[in-house]
Amino acid sequence: MLNLQVVNKFRKIFQKLKFRVAAIFIAVVFGIAILSIQPAQTQQPVVLNLLMTAPDAQPWRQGIIKDFEAKNPGIRINIVEGPNATNLLEDLYTSAFILGDSPYDLVNMDVIWTPKFAAAGWLLDLTDKITQQELAAFSRLDVEGRRYKGKLYAIPMRSDVGMLYYREDLLKEAGFNPPESFDDLVKISQSLQEKNKVDWGYIWQGKQYEGLAAMFVEILEGFGGYWVNPETLEVGLDQSETLAAIEFLKNTIQIGISPPGVTTYQEEETRRIFQNGNSAFLRNWPYVWPLANAESSAVDGKIAIKPMVHTKTGNSGACLGGWALGISKSTKHPEAAWKAISYFTSEEAQRKFVLEAGFVPSRRSLFIDPQIVAKYPHYPELLKIVDQAVLRPPIAQYAQTSDILQRYLSAALTSRMTPEAAMKNAASETRQLLGR
Ligand code: GLC
Repeated sequence: MLNLQVVNKFRKIFQKLKFRVAAIFIAVVFGIAILSIQPAQTQQPVVLNLLMTAPDAQPWRQGIIKDFEAKNPGIRINIVEGPNATNLLEDLYTSAFILGDSPYDLVNMDVIWTPKFAAAGWLLDLTDKITQQELAAFSRLDVEGRRYKGKLYAIPMRSDVGMLYYREDLLKEAGFNPPESFDDLVKISQSLQEKNKVDWGYIWQGKQYEGLAAMFVEILEGFGGYWVNPETLEVGLDQSETLAAIEFLKNTIQIGISPPGVTTYQEEETRRIFQNGNSAFLRNWPYVWPLANAESSAVDGKIAIKPMVHTKTGNSGACLGGWALGISKSTKHPEAAWKAISYFTSEEAQRKFVLEAGFVPSRRSLFIDPQIVAKYPHYPELLKIVDQAVLRPPIAQYAQTSDILQRYLSAALTSRMTPEAAMKNAASETRQLLGR
């Protein structure tokens, strides 16, 4: 009995001790943790925030970010996924800048944004960061699009040009050459539809958004028209060539080579229709190539790509697109941001990015790079197209200019206004905006 009491007493003391030991142990561990966090805190990686469209984010994450972070353990890239439409992404960047210190360190910019962002003072001047010789490795138009008043504000990460995709197999089978004129495009479309080879002839981006403007400059160029002359700020929207370009697009819906829903489509909707084998022609960017040639695609190995058709007096118009990296003026990490830009625009990173995602390089050497040409045989040809691509007007008021065109063009295409009335308004609003 006595023994049991003694044992219990000892057990209690021991339990208390255990508790104390445990408490001391926890305190020590906690202390060490705090101590070890202290110095680590000062060495925590620099995080660079970067906003981009959701479809772009995937190939970034797959390869080049991992490579960059492995080479630069002190820097992390945090991708923030934004909306698909470039104008909505631009709105997000714009409101972040207007509200004050932007949360984004790196600015992933569509070619059309640079004048606006630079004029507003939102970007660091990168002119002295890179030599003329280094810049000469990039396509000239890609670089020019990133200058504003003689200064350079971004380094081209990738280029882009609008192209005409077509079903090479069906055209060959029916004995057609690839189309050269708008009439050819219509004739081939109708013939393949009559033979029930495809549901639709020609698919394009007709929704009211930036992609509509990019698609339209190609048709406009094909009809020999122009939108805004960036030198004189003359506006060509109420000219006969513009009206002819709109009539062509409206007609594609009226005669049924394009579906009525085309006026609600962005790039991805149009890609899916073509990729499912439901259309003879598609206007889109080169990112479609690897996707449409994937094993799961209904048109794998059956397609070809060419510049847009034109009239006798017009030119083949490929709209210049593309994305470049700039640095936000409010970033606390300008050096890390420049390190990231140097890597992401390097030959090594671009090669990887292009091979993975089918994007168009901004470095000229990559268009004839053996690895890239083995995967994309049309790239040497694409370089010529990039060199002659059509620019959307590189002016600081581009966003509003494009917004006017988008609104009235959409009204004309959906028959809410006649093309004449729509373009009369569009031209006069644009002139007013540009002080003409
Ligand atoms: C692509 C182009 C870009 C263009 C956009 C329109 O992303 O690279 O320049 O503004 O498409 O949808």
